[in-house]
Amino acid sequence: MPTYAGAMAKKKLLLDCDPGLDDALALLLAHSDPDLDLVAVTTVGGNVALDHTTRNALELREFLGFTDVPVAAGAAGPLVRETKNAAEVHGPGGIGDVILPRAKLPVDSRGAVDLIIETLRNSPGEINLVATGPLTNIALALRKEPRIIEWAASFVIMGGSFTRGNTTPAAEFNIYADPEAAAEVFAAGWHVVMVGLDLTLQALVTDAIRERMLALGALGRDLVVPLATFWNDPQDPDWGGQAVHDVCAVAFVSRPDLFSSVPARVEVEVAGQWTAGMTVTDFRSSRPNALVPVTLDVDGFWDYVLERYARAAA
Ligand code: RIB
Ligand code: CA
Repeated sequence: MPTYAGAMAKKKLLLDCDPGLDDALALLLAHSDPDLDLVAVTTVGGNVALDHTTRNALELREFLGFTDVPVAAGAAGPLVRETKNAAEVHGPGGIGDVILPRAKLPVDSRGAVDLIIETLRNSPGEINLVATGPLTNIALALRKEPRIIEWAASFVIMGGSFTRGNTTPAAEFNIYADPEAAAEVFAAGWHVVMVGLDLTLQALVTDAIRERMLALGALGRDLVVPLATFWNDPQDPDWGGQAVHDVCAVAFVSRPDLFSSVPARVEVEVAGQWTAGMTVTDFRSSRPNALVPVTLDVDGFWDYVLERYARAAA
């Protein structure tokens, strides 16, 4: 497919995810942004069990209409630790109280690891690899085929943080769920764009944003708002709304201009009794392995996301 002078070539992405309220909103953005081409989806156990995250991805594929995109299931749990989940946040089914029609199309027979490797190998330098769940599938793909670090156009994760955790005081959920996988991923030799909590907690669904989501009509009322407002942290007296963490990772691929980012060296703690899963971030290192978005153009982000959602609603 030729790209014409001046026309922005679509950016291709593979999304490895654990839907998940915000993973579902990230899939909607990846599908509805005309500057993005979602070429494959892989699932991992995380927010809820793999059978639920995979069912959610399959049902979202048919409900939103990206039925030409393969969906492959991956690891049910972490490399070595006990499986954890975040069902208290995402609901037992993983997408809150949203009920979607049962999927008719099957999961891809290749499995997540082989789909990731094959997709990247067939289009070297073209596919942006985005991970918004625990990094188990990515670590397993790297073990099987280390060259994916050369084939990926970029590698963007929602995960980690450089100041605080959300699952423990030190660790963010995606890293905490599989610290060994995250350590292997950050040490693989590529540059990881680490879209962490310090960034994503700027992307809050405030009452004003919720009103703009409702203006999307049925899509807003029946899908976007229920996904974006299901969780309300009773322990947080300063609750300002649910953060659309994973949407920020997909947004970075399409609109990196909405983010200001700093290089850093990130090491993942795997031995700490209290700090396992902490992404120890050194902004002064002369050996950076990560790019860390630190500031979000919040108004620009929501204008971009809601304009894309409006296209899906139309
Ligand atoms: O800590 C937030 C991350 O954990 C998001 O990806 C959310 O979906 C959960 O997986
Ligand atoms: Ca997620």
